[in-house]
Amino acid sequence: MDASKEGARLIIVCGLPGSGKTTYAMDLEENLRAVRLAPDEWMTALAIDLYDEDSRGKVEMLQWQFGQRLLALGLVVIIEWGTWAKSERDTLRLKARTLGAAVELHYLSAPVDVLFDRIQRRGREEPPIGQDAMLRWLEIFQVPTSEEMELYDQVYEFNSK
Ligand SMILES: Nc1ncnc2c1ncn2[C@@H]1O[C@H](COP(=O)(O)OP(=O)(O)OP(=O)(O)O)[C@@H](O)[C@H]1O
Ligand SMILES: [Mg+2]
Repeated sequence: MDASKEGARLIIVCGLPGSGKTTYAMDLEENLRAVRLAPDEWMTALAIDLYDEDSRGKVEMLQWQFGQRLLALGLVVIIEWGTWAKSERDTLRLKARTLGAAVELHYLSAPVDVLFDRIQRRGREEPPIGQDAMLRWLEIFQVPTSEEMELYDQVYEFNSK
């Protein structure tokens, strides 16, 4: 698909916990002068338990309302919610396109033992994420197929610092 080289752009960074979404998205945020929306950070700032899925859903909804306004203003927005389901990614893409934004999908992955090792080392969750949970999530996560990737715009090439 043709990608507009300027203006509104939604970048969806998807992947399982530990795949490096936040690390990667922070780099993009700097290089693209973008606004990054990460629920974990708002939840931590609001002293909300990161396992509270109800509150996570509300924070994501708030972030998406804010993100849509930023896209309408022609800015670059990065969403790094995990977006495990294709349907969730579809909803974001279709809405962003109605706002005239280009939409990119970036998928990050690593072998499950690497994911597990990273999140153990990071030590953010209390209680820690177990290996059984990680294996369950691996089953649930819908890895973007090449057909799905074709629904997105080309990745914008920026000049790194
Ligand atoms: N490419 C990489 N190689 C090695 N370590 C990495 C890489 N990317 C991230 N890490 C490290 O792995 C840990 C998890 O990374 P990060 O927090 O960015 O993942 P995440 O996908 O945002 O996870 P979550 O979904 O739990 O927020 C961090 O400690 C980070 O420093
Ligand atoms: Mg993260």
